[in-house]
Amino acid sequence: MGMGHVQSLLILILIFLCYQGFSVRTKDKIYVNIKGQKACFRRLNATSQIGCSSESKGNIGVVHYMRTTKDHDWVLNLGPYPPYVILIAAENFNRQDITELIDSKRVNGILVIEANSTAQLPPNGFSSDKSCPNDGYGLYYNNTVYKSCKKVEWNPPGEGQMFVDYSIPIFLLTNSNEVQYIIEQCYEKYNNPDDGLASHFPLCAAELKDAMNGAKDSITCIRRSNHFTSLTTSMNQYCDPLGDKNVFGFVNPKNKHEEQQNKSVIIAACRLDYMTLFENVNRSADNPVTSIVALLAAAEAIGKVKEEITDNKTILFTFFQGEAFDYIGSSRMVYDMETGTFLKNEDKYGLHALNLNHLSHFIEVSQLGYQQTNEAKVWLHSDPISRINISKQIEHLVDQIQRIAQQLNVSVQEPGHSQPLPPSSSQRFLRKTLLPTIVFANHENKFTNIYYNSMFDIGQLIGVDYPSSGDPDDIPITDQALLLTNISTILARTLYQLATNKSGSHIQANSTTVSHLLYCYILNSNCPMFHMILREEISHKFHKIPEMNLYVSVKNNNNPLTYITERMLAYFLGDKLENVSKSDCKTMTNGTKRSYWMQGIGKPRQGFCLVAVTRNSDAVSPAFIIDDYDWLSGEYSTWTESIWLQNAMSVRLFLVPSNKLQAVTLFVGVLILCLAMGIVFFLNSRAEVVFSAAPHLPYLFSLFPKLRLHLSIKALHPVLSKLIGHFKPPTYCLH
Ligand SMILES: *[C@@H]1O[C@H](CO)[C@@H](O)[C@H](O)[C@H]1NC(C)=O
Ligand SMILES: *[C@@H]1O[C@H](CO)[C@@H](O)[C@H](O)[C@H]1NC(C)=O
Ligand SMILES: *[C@@H]1O[C@H](CO)[C@@H](O)[C@H](O)[C@H]1NC(C)=O
Ligand SMILES: *[C@@H]1O[C@H](CO)[C@@H](O)[C@H](O)[C@H]1NC(C)=O
Ligand SMILES: *[C@@H]1O[C@H](CO)[C@@H](O)[C@H](O)[C@H]1NC(C)=O
Ligand SMILES: *[C@@H]1O[C@H](CO)[C@@H](O)[C@H](O)[C@H]1NC(C)=O
Ligand SMILES: *[C@@H]1O[C@H](CO)[C@@H](O)[C@H](O)[C@H]1NC(C)=O
Ligand SMILES: *[C@@H]1O[C@H](CO)[C@@H](O)[C@H](O)[C@H]1NC(C)=O
Ligand SMILES: *[C@@H]1O[C@H](CO)[C@@H](O)[C@H](O)[C@H]1NC(C)=O
Ligand SMILES: *[C@@H]1O[C@H](CO)[C@@H](O)[C@H](O)[C@H]1NC(C)=O
Ligand SMILES: *[C@@H]1O[C@H](CO)[C@@H](O)[C@H](O)[C@H]1NC(C)=O
Ligand SMILES: *[C@@H]1O[C@H](CO)[C@@H](O)[C@H](O)[C@H]1NC(C)=O
Repeated sequence: MGMGHVQSLLILILIFLCYQGFSVRTKDKIYVNIKGQKACFRRLNATSQIGCSSESKGNIGVVHYMRTTKDHDWVLNLGPYPPYVILIAAENFNRQDITELIDSKRVNGILVIEANSTAQLPPNGFSSDKSCPNDGYGLYYNNTVYKSCKKVEWNPPGEGQMFVDYSIPIFLLTNSNEVQYIIEQCYEKYNNPDDGLASHFPLCAAELKDAMNGAKDSITCIRRSNHFTSLTTSMNQYCDPLGDKNVFGFVNPKNKHEEQQNKSVIIAACRLDYMTLFENVNRSADNPVTSIVALLAAAEAIGKVKEEITDNKTILFTFFQGEAFDYIGSSRMVYDMETGTFLKNEDKYGLHALNLNHLSHFIEVSQLGYQQTNEAKVWLHSDPISRINISKQIEHLVDQIQRIAQQLNVSVQEPGHSQPLPPSSSQRFLRKTLLPTIVFANHENKFTNIYYNSMFDIGQLIGVDYPSSGDPDDIPITDQALLLTNISTILARTLYQLATNKSGSHIQANSTTVSHLLYCYILNSNCPMFHMILREEISHKFHKIPEMNLYVSVKNNNNPLTYITERMLAYFLGDKLENVSKSDCKTMTNGTKRSYWMQGIGKPRQGFCLVAVTRNSDAVSPAFIIDDYDWLSGEYSTWTESIWLQNAMSVRLFLVPSNKLQAVTLFVGVLILCLAMGIVFFLNSRAEVVFSAAPHLPYLFSLFPKLRLHLSIKALHPVLSKLIGHFKPPTYCLH
C-alpha cells in the first residue's frame, strides 16, 4: 500500500465518522418532534411580564408523568435526576401545585395534556383569569365599597394563571396519539420509577423551546423596540401592543349635515374577545360567543324593521375588541368620543361624529350560555352608583325589558340593587358619563360559567355539541338556540321601543340564524354562513386557518373573526343592491354607507353587492397613542405581546445516557478532534500531493455530493467544535 492510499483511507474513515454522527438524518433519529403543541408565551404590561419563556436553546429535563401525589413527592424530593419536565393532565394544572413545583427549581418545563372530552374537565372549575376579572380598570377601580370584588367575587375558580410570570416553558399537548407515545414509549419505557426506585440510564428527556424576545415590562420593551427601529429597519423588535379593531354598525344614522341630538344614541354592545394561557386555543363558547351571537341575531331582527326607525334616535351595535386585557376596545372608543375623534375622518356626507353627550342608553349582553343544571333565567345587572342620580330611568328601562320578556315567557330578574356591575365594557363608559345601563347575563352573582376565559369553555357544556364535521344544513335548533333566540328578540324589541317609543311585538329573532352562528363561532368557522358573506378571493383562506380564535392578538394582525363579524353585521343591517356587478360594487360606497361584495350561496355562488352603515375603528389602547402617557397611572391598558422568532417554539424528546457514558463519549470526541486536527494540518500542508495521489476520490464525490462538505477544511472546524461543544451520542434512538 502506497502513501496515497493510507491517506485516502484515513480521510474516508473521518468522513464516515462525521457523516454518521452529525448529518441531519441522524439528528432526526435522536429527536422525536412533538407537533401537536401550543405554547404559553409572554405578555407584558407597564410594570411586569407574564407568561412563559425558555432559555434561548430550550429547557431540558427528564420526563415525569404526574398522576398521583406520589409523583409530586418524586419530582419535589426523591427523584435523583432533576431537572424534570413534567407531563400533567389539564384538569390537574392548578396554580398552587404548579407554583410549588416551579419554586422547587427541580422542574424545567411543563407539558399539559389537553382535555379531550367533558369527562376530563376540572370538576370544580378553572379559569386562567383572576377571580376578580378586569379589576383595577373598571368603574369601581377607586371605589371603597365596590372595588376588588368586595360585594361579589365574579369568578371564584379564577386563580390568575394567566398573570403569573413563569420562569419556564409550558406547552399544551393537543394530539392524543402523541400524548400516548410520550406516556408509553418515553415515560413508561424508560423513566417510570419501579417501586420507588429510579430507572437506570438511558432516560427519556424533553427539550422545550419557547424563547421570547421581550422582557421586563412594556415600557422597557417599547423603548428598546423604538430605539432599534430607528437604527435598523424592522429587525430587533421586542414587543407589540395588543389590539385589533372594534366593529360597529348603525340603524338610523345621522350624517354630517343632519342634527345628532344629545342623548339620541342607544348603544347595544358586547365583547369580541377572550383569553387563555396557550396560543391558538379556540374555546370561547359561553364567553364571549353567546354574547356575540345574541347581539348579531338582534341586529338581524332590527335590520328587518329599520325603515320604521325614523325618529331622532340612532341605534349603534358595537363589538368591543381586547376587553379581556383591561378593556382595550371600550376604553379606546370612550377616549375617541371624549377627544372628538370618533368618526371624525368621515367624508362630506359621512357619519356625524359622536361624543359622549350623544349617548342615551347602554344595553350590553354578557355570557348567556345555559348549562343543563342552570335554570334558564336572564339577569339584568345595573350600576348602584348611577342609581343615585338616574334611578327612575334605570327602573323604567328594567320595567320595559321585563314586560317584553313576559310576552315571551322568559324569566328576567334583577339582582339586589346594591350589587355592582359584573366586568363589562359599559363600565368604561360609566367612568366618564351618566347613562341608564343594563347588562344581560346568565348569572345572578358569581358566573355560572366555571370555565370563564379558559381552555375548557366548550360548546358541549351549553348544549352546542353537534358534530362539526356534520352536514351544516342539518344543524339542529337546540334548546340553547331557542332560548338565545328569545333573548335576542327581547333585546331587539327593547332597542326598537327605546328608539321609537312604540311596541316592537312584531319583531322576532331567527332561530336558524342563531343555530348557524353558534355552529360557526364555536364548532367550525369554515361554515356556510361565514362563507356566504366573504369575498371569493378571501374565501380560500378560511379553509386554511384551522384554529380561528377570538384572542385579540397584536395590532398589526387582523383577526379573521373580527373581519367576519363586521361583514356579518353588515349583512344583517344592510341592503342588498340588485343588478350591481362585483366591479361596480366598489363604487357604491357613498355617504354613510359602505359597500361589501359577498360571494353568496348556491352552486355556482350567486354573489351580491350590499351597502350598510358599518365600520371598524382602532381598538388599540390610548396608552400607545397619547404622547407622554403616564404609564403607571393605571388609566389605560398597557398590554403588549413579546415577539418571538420563527421556529422559536418546539417540543422534542430524546434519550440521555448516563454521565459515565457521556464522559466516555466526550473523551472519544476529544480524541477524534485531535486526530482530525492532525489530519487537517497534514492535508493543509500537502494538499496538492494528497489530491493528485487519490484519483478515485472525485468519483466518490460525485456519488455522495454531501461528503465533499466534510472534506472542506473550513467546514471541518465548526463540525468538530460542535462535537465537543454539546455532544449527544448518536447510539441512542427513541424508537
Ligand atoms: C382522549 O385521550 C385518551 C388518552 O389521553 C385517548 O386514549 C382517547 O382515545 C382520546 N379520545 C379522543 C376522543 O380523542
Ligand atoms: C382614589 O381615591 C382616593 C381617595 O378616595 C383619592 O385620594 C385618589 O386621588 C383617587 N385616585 C384617583 C386616580 O382618582
Ligand atoms: C401588570 O400586571 C401585573 C400582573 O397581573 C399586575 O400585578 C400589575 O398591577 C399590572 N400593572 C399595571 C400597571 O396594570
Ligand atoms: C349637548 O350637551 C352638551 C353638554 O351638556 C351641551 O354643551 C350642548 O349644548 C348640548 N347640545 C345640544 C344641541 O343640546
Ligand atoms: C326630532 O328632532 C326635531 C328637531 O330637533 C324635533 O323637532 C322633533 O320633535 C324631534 N322628534 C322627536 C320624536 O323627538
Ligand atoms: C349625581 O348626584 C350627586 C348627588 O346628588 C351629585 O353630587 C352629582 O353631581 C350627580 N352627578 C351627575 C353626573 O349629575
Ligand atoms: C307562556 O306561558 C303561558 C302559561 O305557561 C302559556 O299560556 C302561553 O301560551 C305562553 N306563551 C308563549 C308565547 O309561549
Ligand atoms: C323561546 O321561543 C320558543 C319558540 O319561539 C318557545 O317555544 C319557547 O318557549 C321560548 N321560551 C324559552 C324560555 O325558551
Ligand atoms: C311614549 O309613549 C307614551 C304613550 O304611549 C307617552 O306617554 C310617552 O310620553 C312617550 N315617551 C316619549 C319619550 O315620547
Ligand atoms: C330564518 O332564516 C332562515 C335562513 O336565513 C330563513 O330561511 C327563514 O325563513 C327565517 N325564518 C323566519 C321565521 O324568518
Ligand atoms: C377549533 O379548533 C379545532 C381543532 O383544534 C377545530 O376542529 C374547530 O373547528 C375549531 N373551531 C372553529 C370555530 O373553527
Ligand atoms: C353620494 O351621495 C351624495 C349625497 O347623498 C349624492 O349627492 C351623490 O350623488 C352620491 N354619489 C353617488 C355616486 O351615488
